[in-house]
Amino acid sequence: MKATSVCKMRPINWLGTLLRSPRSSGRYVGSRTTTTAATGVQRTPPPPPKASTKMRGWQLHCYGDIDELQLSEKLRMPQIRSSNDCLVRVRTTTINPIDLAMLRGYGATVLNTIRCQPGEGIEFPLTLGREFCGELVQKGMGVNSEKLALGQRVWGVVPLQISGSHADYVVVPSYCLAPAPTELDDSEAASVLYAGLTAWSGLYITGRLGGLCGATTSSGGGANKRVLVFGGSGGVGTLAIQMLKSQGVQVLATCSENAVEMVRCLGADHVVDYNNPADMDTLCNYAPYDIVLDCAGQGSQQAAQLKFDFRQYITFSSPLLANIDKQGLGLGLLKNVADLLESNAKAITQRGGLVKWGFFAPASHGIEFLQSLVQHKKLIPLIDSSFEFAELPKAFERLKCGHLRGKVVVKL
Ligand SMILES: NC(=O)c1ccc[n+]([C@@H]2O[C@H](COP(=O)([O-])OP(=O)(O)OC[C@H]3O[C@@H](n4cnc5c(N)ncnc54)[C@H](OP(=O)(O)O)[C@@H]3O)[C@@H](O)[C@H]2O)c1
Repeated sequence: MKATSVCKMRPINWLGTLLRSPRSSGRYVGSRTTTTAATGVQRTPPPPPKASTKMRGWQLHCYGDIDELQLSEKLRMPQIRSSNDCLVRVRTTTINPIDLAMLRGYGATVLNTIRCQPGEGIEFPLTLGREFCGELVQKGMGVNSEKLALGQRVWGVVPLQISGSHADYVVVPSYCLAPAPTELDDSEAASVLYAGLTAWSGLYITGRLGGLCGATTSSGGGANKRVLVFGGSGGVGTLAIQMLKSQGVQVLATCSENAVEMVRCLGADHVVDYNNPADMDTLCNYAPYDIVLDCAGQGSQQAAQLKFDFRQYITFSSPLLANIDKQGLGLGLLKNVADLLESNAKAITQRGGLVKWGFFAPASHGIEFLQSLVQHKKLIPLIDSSFEFAELPKAFERLKCGHLRGKVVVKL
């Protein structure tokens, strides 16, 4: 299918998702019941996979575009290598902007340096996919059985240097995994953690919105602060808004005109169309902002161009890995320091605030924080569109088309 036809696909009804009546905890009707996750009682685990067992997975053998993705039915299953590793059978996964970027070679210099540590794999073949919902089928001796039981339904994330979740099985360290909330079905559960941990780490680790406690525990915080979210309609933005509202933060957001109603439904106090200059000018009335959170790919340079003051401008679109890809580790690191100093010098003199770079962080207390919001019905994941595993390239095409309203999900 061509990219254009994927772009015309009817998106999943986000408004229906948002306006759905509160879920009962027994709503999940996937192929597995939630009894185990809800009660913590361990059910009979599936037979442990044998070393010779093969699996399906999408792989890259060189960087390029979406047509480089190849489906193989005979991949070797990933193996547990450390006592804290867990092997998960993947039921649902997603596509994030980082998958498309890595497909094109983004971050290869730094990631290959990490991958080439003893015990890590080499660059190709590369399997993408940074988050999933699935079933725990094998675990190392060091994994706490009270926290994670065999056969349990789990949700998790895959650190960038590890082989990803666009495959039947994935191995991740236990801190990247937790019991999946029974309030979410498999597609919803797969779509929270990567974007959610990005928003959480930007706000609570980089932005210190909840002080030291908010950065080192799952306590959140930030009541009565004021945060402006650029890109309130995307994967990170939709979760950031709900996260902030749950903590009593005043939230303003920007998005396209056709997403304004949806972003309001998420709880944002004031939503503006970023294509409407008069609308954008109203943001000056609420300044200064404690945090401006850039979830719209604006980057560091944008900070000094803003018409209003802020204390911190946190962007998830830093040049960190791209500079190292272009100039190598040494010069790239120097360029990063220079870029950050330059954007801070401009922002401090013109807008009185700091520019910081935010990143996805696979932190277990971030997962606990998100879990608690889901359980208290303070966070509802939005799904833009959903694809079968065999159609994974179409899911990439959907992401490439842009204008996402939530996440792109892939079912195995
Ligand atoms: N550093 C990290 O570790 C990390 C991790 C995750 C994500 N990211 C980055 O964070 C950004 C957000 O990620 P995501 O997964 O949320 O992407 P996404 O789902 O594609 O969301 C981006 C959203 O922003 C909207 N948008 C585009 N231009 C805008 C503008 N000028 N003002 C306001 N809204 C605008 C888009 O809709 P319309 O185009 O229809 O307006 C879309 O809904 C991406 O740049 C991604 O690469 C970084």
